[in-house]
Amino acid sequence: MPSFPKPKIPDAVVPPPLRKPAKPGVGGTPKGQAPTDLKTAPERKTAGDKLLDVGKEAPIDALGWVDQRLAASGFLTGMLFRKVPKGTNWFYTLGSATLFAFIVQATTGVFLAMFYTPSATQAYASISHINNEVPLGAFVHGMHKWGSSVMVILVFLHMGRTFFFGAYKYPRELNWVIGVVLLILTMTMAFTGYLLPFDQRSFWATVVAVNINASGPIVGPYLADFLRAGAEFGPTTISRFYAIHMLLIPVLIAALIGAHLYLVTKLGTTAPPWLKAKLPEPVEKEQV
Ligand code: HEM
Repeated sequence: MPSFPKPKIPDAVVPPPLRKPAKPGVGGTPKGQAPTDLKTAPERKTAGDKLLDVGKEAPIDALGWVDQRLAASGFLTGMLFRKVPKGTNWFYTLGSATLFAFIVQATTGVFLAMFYTPSATQAYASISHINNEVPLGAFVHGMHKWGSSVMVILVFLHMGRTFFFGAYKYPRELNWVIGVVLLILTMTMAFTGYLLPFDQRSFWATVVAVNINASGPIVGPYLADFLRAGAEFGPTTISRFYAIHMLLIPVLIAALIGAHLYLVTKLGTTAPPWLKAKLPEPVEKEQV
């Protein structure tokens, strides 16, 4: 078994060594003398200093209060200070980068949803309103639009990393399968979001894509009917896409990312394939 170096625990989380209180009369000062620490007058703290001290302690006090009730510090310490294999490199950040892209998409999506109208007659106008009149609207819309491509690229790169590093093998097969579902869901997000601006390009591109879906074997035609909300594109198609895009899939992705990360922390990450595991030392024969 390869042995990994123990991670260094930050000094801040290590409790100070417990000290026994001195016995009465032992180690004290001779009778009649003031203790040495009282000989020099203690520095007086102003009310402002005291307030500052309370302010400095407040975050840790609040965390302690929450932790006493949730007992989450054990889980967090296990997650944040878990062992990672030697040779872990920048390629291992692609999963976290994908997670970051998802969080950006979810956040910008919430703000876009405040101004967007999922209706065949008003969708295009609401997007123009976001881009031209809402403060920072074009910026947030741009982040969401470009962010979708970034997330798709990152998810593929992350999948490539896990594939080429052999991370799909035992015991991580289930995490690979969850990853495949996440990949499909990410692609479905990009697909359903493309229709929402409801301009000529997004409309006709979606018509083509749904027709491609319809040509799939067995489930294809049913899937296309489900996406169109009928046999043809109609007024309810955009509501169908919107509900899938901003409710159904984000919830599924969030839940699956939770399961994915749980398995990553439980199983640990794979060592790079170019690092060979150290073989155990051969047991020496006992001298007779
Ligand atoms: C929304 C999409 C995804 C997110 C947010 C995500 C997130 C992560 C994170 C943060 C890690 C740990 C760090 C790392 O190894 O990069 C990880 C590991 C892993 N991911 Fe993903 N992932 C996603 C999609 C995928 C996909 C599409 C696959 C493959 C089909 C996949 C397969 C794996 C595997 C097998 C591991 C374990 C890696 C190892 O043991 O070295 N993930 N993922």
